[in-house]
Amino acid sequence: MTGVKSLYFLGLVLMGLAAIHADEQVVGGVSQLEGDRRKDALTLLDATLTQLATGDGPSYKAINVTSVTGQTVSGTLNTYEVELDNGSDKKQCTVKIWSQPWLKENGTNIKIKCAGDDGELDRTW
Ligand SMILES: *[C@@H]1O[C@H](CO)[C@@H](O)[C@H](O)[C@H]1NC(C)=O
Ligand SMILES: *[C@@H]1O[C@H](CO)[C@@H](O)[C@H](O)[C@H]1NC(C)=O
Ligand SMILES: *[C@@H]1O[C@H](CO)[C@@H](O)[C@H](O)[C@H]1NC(C)=O
Repeated sequence: MTGVKSLYFLGLVLMGLAAIHADEQVVGGVSQLEGDRRKDALTLLDATLTQLATGDGPSYKAINVTSVTGQTVSGTLNTYEVELDNGSDKKQCTVKIWSQPWLKENGTNIKIKCAGDDGELDRTW
């Protein structure tokens, strides 16, 4: 009897853990990226910052990424918590890249908001 009971209890615990885990994955469709998806997102970050620098700037280098989340919207919306280096200063920033790669024009939007800055950089190409 106690064996059955503890088995039942274990089942409940496992179900609870599964529910918590599932919640983490789907809160608003936003999830922390891991493995290849994180790697791809970081590649996108570097490519987009490079593209930004070849336009009317500014020139930023991502030096320390602490968080990468992804969300499937119309396209992909990635949010990065990252330290950006503009050559003379390092700032902690939130970068959002919205990518709709099938669009030939205005398929990339980048927003950069840095601690201590009032404004937000917002570019689309
Ligand atoms: C990245 O951040 C960690 C923790 O804040 C820090 O220890 C490390 O020195 C940083 N790396 C660079 C290249 O700034
Ligand atoms: C880097 O950012 C700082 C602070 O925002 C600014 O004063 C400086 O001129 C920038 N340097 C370059 C090379 O853009
Ligand atoms: C892209 O954005 C620019 C500036 O907002 C706008 O003038 C242009 O019409 C847009 N192109 C397309 C295809 O939406």
